[in-house]
Amino acid sequence: MSKALTYLAKSRPDAATHLLGFYKHSVQALDEKTRHLIQIVTKVTVGTERGLRQYAPKALKAGASREEILDAVLMAFPAAGLNKVLDAIEIMREMDLLPEIPDDTPTLPNDKHLGAMNDFPLRRMQTVQRPGANMIVFRTDETQAIVYSARCPHSKANLCKGTDHGDRVECRVHNWIFDLESGQCLNPAGNAGLEVIPSVVRDGQLILL
Ligand code: FES
Repeated sequence: MSKALTYLAKSRPDAATHLLGFYKHSVQALDEKTRHLIQIVTKVTVGTERGLRQYAPKALKAGASREEILDAVLMAFPAAGLNKVLDAIEIMREMDLLPEIPDDTPTLPNDKHLGAMNDFPLRRMQTVQRPGANMIVFRTDETQAIVYSARCPHSKANLCKGTDHGDRVECRVHNWIFDLESGQCLNPAGNAGLEVIPSVVRDGQLILL
């Protein structure tokens, strides 16, 4: 309950009881995620920034994806108009709730020298972002490392912006999780794994082939 409603419940209990009763009894057929998404549509339509900041994280927590939240914002367009929708998108950008833009950069960078092996931590995700490509390097021991394309095999999101779980990376868009030792998709299991970019270690330097 918002602080304003809490205040109202204390200062005007009769009015607040009916108001809260309305909310409680009038929305019974919708699941939590749908309710929050519809709340986002209404908040954008009336132009309340605070409401959007309140309900967008709730929708995310209830299982909505960033795309679904963005769709809810766009659903408000016929009633809200372009400016309110753009304001809402700016708020979502500030809150880091916008979906990733698919990474369509070519797989291989122009510069094939990725760095000294000692620059890469042992058994931890390390991102390498170059004008030509985004990559993830996973150094398995003193002398070996695996280089992956950071393009998510699901919908091409940039995994360099994913959640770093050390020896796993989680895509921020639909939360697929990849094992960096094998490149396999752990969750949902059995889906396409990471693309390996051939590389070699020469004189302690990691170089793409
Ligand atoms: S883009 Fe869907 S899980 Fe990565």
